Amino acid sequence: MPLAAGAFAQVSPNDRIRIATIGIGGMGTADTNAALTVPGVELAAVSDVYDGRLVRAKEVYGSHLFTTRDYREILARRDIDAVIVGTPDHWHARISIDAMNAGKDVYCEKPMVQRIEEGAAVVAAQKKTGRILQVGSQRVSSIIYEKAAELIRAGAIGEFNLVEAWWDRNSAIGAWQYSLPPDASPDNIDWDRFLGHAPKRPFEPVRLFRWRNYQDYGTGVAGDLFVHLFSGMHFILNSTGPERVFATGGLRFWKDGRDVPDVMLGLYDYPKTAHHPEFTLFLRVNFVNGAGETSGFRFVGSEGVLTVGNHVTVAKQPRQTEPGYTINTFPKALQERFLAGYRAQYPEQRPNADSMRPVSEDKYMPPRGYSDHQHHHQNFFAAVRSRKPVIEDAEFGFRAAGPALASNVSYFEKRQIAWDPVGIRVKA
Ligand SMILES: NC(=O)c1ccc[n+]([C@@H]2O[C@H](COP(=O)([O-])OP(=O)(O)OC[C@H]3O[C@@H](n4cnc5c(N)ncnc54)[C@H](O)[C@@H]3O)[C@@H](O)[C@H]2O)c1
Repeated sequence: MPLAAGAFAQVSPNDRIRIATIGIGGMGTADTNAALTVPGVELAAVSDVYDGRLVRAKEVYGSHLFTTRDYREILARRDIDAVIVGTPDHWHARISIDAMNAGKDVYCEKPMVQRIEEGAAVVAAQKKTGRILQVGSQRVSSIIYEKAAELIRAGAIGEFNLVEAWWDRNSAIGAWQYSLPPDASPDNIDWDRFLGHAPKRPFEPVRLFRWRNYQDYGTGVAGDLFVHLFSGMHFILNSTGPERVFATGGLRFWKDGRDVPDVMLGLYDYPKTAHHPEFTLFLRVNFVNGAGETSGFRFVGSEGVLTVGNHVTVAKQPRQTEPGYTINTFPKALQERFLAGYRAQYPEQRPNADSMRPVSEDKYMPPRGYSDHQHHHQNFFAAVRSRKPVIEDAEFGFRAAGPALASNVSYFEKRQIAWDPVGIRVKA
């Protein structure tokens, strides 16, 4: 329900910013709390399809809150400047577009869209309405990722050729087995509104509370986690995306009715651009990892390796000054001839203290208590006030979501995908 242009809220630099959260489960709550750390931001309203979460919102944020099952009632309110979209993935595009058309700025959780086909419309709506839309992959605002970008640009690891990123988990909650509220019933859940454009189905609360496990509402491990790795890496390298996508994996352990894999590997070819050389990306998500949870990046270069996790490390080990030899399968006489030539070029030296090679490892730590999530919200609200563009806008969000979702196409259709990183689409 678009509002007339004159009804659009305008926020001046000193004004309070009144926000509403649409979908106030785990991340909607975390986003709301991060937003409320920004001076001048106030929560005015909340929407959710499960009444229990509306009750909880009033318990936590105050009984004055306006609450509704129907997010369009929030968009119709003229006192709301911006919305946080914390719903399952299949609602992101619809609600973000409706919100921008209603004159609201939008903080939309990742992945920006559930289907590749939805991306262009979100980008177009942002351009048409001029609203601020920031996607919720918080690494894009992280000073840790900014440091990694700066080091790579300055040549800290030479020319990189491979990027690896992974996310390993080994817990039920890590594998999305979230708790089901014991009171879940058709009386306190707006089931049809949860389903939205997904196929109609009879009431089955597990599909709402564990929506990630179903292709109808979620985007699998690729849309949930690869997308963070894409957005973080695209930010570090100023990259637009790969041109070839291949993913494989399987459902190996969490056979709880889900129709998405719990182990997934992706391989991506990135073409040379003005910002980076040609390189290969390898992504892994594994929910069946007996050693527990780890996540990170390795940028592998000709002069060193830069890892990014909760801090940045640059490790370097110079190559040997001699090339070395592999001659013991040659006939003896030939070995001797080879060695004579080799030693003429590289005279034998007894190892001494000077021949010790410096192996260095430099660590860059963020300040204690640093939160990229809060930083991401600060950047969003700064843009709401200044009207200056954010980095992780609709186009950036689609460039990260696109190859993640193309990974699902590759996995389910068992084929490699030719991806157009400029047009942000699957190549015909
Ligand atoms: N940035 C991050 O690090 C991060 C972390 C976790 C989740 N997320 C993203 O946040 C989003 C929410 O994930 P979550 O873990 O909070 O899920 P969740 O199930 O805890 O919360 C989703 C909420 O949306 C509600 N909902 C469903 N349909 C709705 C509709 N039409 N209108 C209003 N409310 C609706 C549900 O009832 C639920 O309360 C997802 O897109 C996820 O990918 C991002």
